[in-house]
Amino acid sequence: MYQLNLGSLSVTDFLQQYWQKKPLLIKAGFKHFTDPLTADELAGLALEDDIESRIVSCIDKQWDMQTGPFEDFSVFGEQNWTLLVQAVDHWHPEAAKLLDPFRFIPNWRIDDLMVSFSTPGGGVGPHLDQYDVFIIQGEGKRHWRVGMPDRSLQQLCPHPRLLQVSPFQDCIDVITEPGDILYIPPGCPHEGISLENSLNYSVGFRAPAQKDLLTGLVDHLIDHDINGERFSDAGRSIASSVGAISENDLAKVQQLLQQLLADQAMLPHWFGSLITRAKHELDINEPEPHYGSDEIAEYLDEGSVLSRTGGLRCCYYQQAADSDILLFINGDQITLPADELHTARLLCDYTELLSEQNRHFCQSPQRTMLLTNLINQGYWYFSE
Ligand code: SIN
Ligand code: CO
Repeated sequence: MYQLNLGSLSVTDFLQQYWQKKPLLIKAGFKHFTDPLTADELAGLALEDDIESRIVSCIDKQWDMQTGPFEDFSVFGEQNWTLLVQAVDHWHPEAAKLLDPFRFIPNWRIDDLMVSFSTPGGGVGPHLDQYDVFIIQGEGKRHWRVGMPDRSLQQLCPHPRLLQVSPFQDCIDVITEPGDILYIPPGCPHEGISLENSLNYSVGFRAPAQKDLLTGLVDHLIDHDINGERFSDAGRSIASSVGAISENDLAKVQQLLQQLLADQAMLPHWFGSLITRAKHELDINEPEPHYGSDEIAEYLDEGSVLSRTGGLRCCYYQQAADSDILLFINGDQITLPADELHTARLLCDYTELLSEQNRHFCQSPQRTMLLTNLINQGYWYFSE
């Protein structure tokens, strides 16, 4: 278990003073840090088709970026390159535990764990990210510089698939050692150059753009065959130019759209489903043959431990204590009765369910059936 050590700051202080506001170096954020995986294991993940990986290198000032899967790393030499593997939490349960200390931010805001291995001189160059990130230093040392957002910075594109920024003024300049953590809000320029072979773990967050939100809403309308209200214009006056789109008509179109967005009843349905959809492949192993609910009840009774598949996104929404609960798992919605809040919390708040917690699922046939279905879909599995 990784325990976050913010020094003299409380989590509340951190949220008030730094979250989305300014970068922070958390020296020895994880005391006595041990890497959950080795560079060799990371290289092994980058061999897989289903796992997104890339190598960024800079040789003689020439930047390059190649996407995986990779078979042979020796062609990249001993220095000046970085291997980056996305969504490692989906494939490596030990590495996934690195997300847990940051779960003071809700599930839906957490994105994935990206892990990088850099050789001496390796890095992706000075750049900005659109999302908050905690970068944890694993084995090795890296020279990091972080600055505040600066509109005068120019976007540079030293390679068609690499976006960097012009030189920036730093407010943090540090050599990170194992267990040190950098918090970097969106838009803060940063650059990490490895001093030796080094592992870095990036806990990334999701912040949907308006485009993503509208896409989620439209998907919901299509999936549920909802046309909504249609444009109407009773009381129209004579058009002075039939070719023109009038301000008045545009205002009505805008109003029609705003009505749809203001629909409070629809909002949690489409948002919950949108935000729990996985962006990266999941390591789903459907049990074959499927379990019967009596078998599941027996396992739970014997004290088995259940783990949630890495990267599975689970959230719930309950408007009031007497309203139904909307449970969202991997983009699907399940409706639970109002008094099943504890069931929703167990499934969404914990990545591992211990035997005492599992007893709850044996207390009603509906709960056992719900859990049986989730296990049969490969979403939860018996880990002990
Ligand atoms: C890295 O680990 O090399 C990249 C992390 C980042 O700058 O976002
Ligand atoms: Co970055």
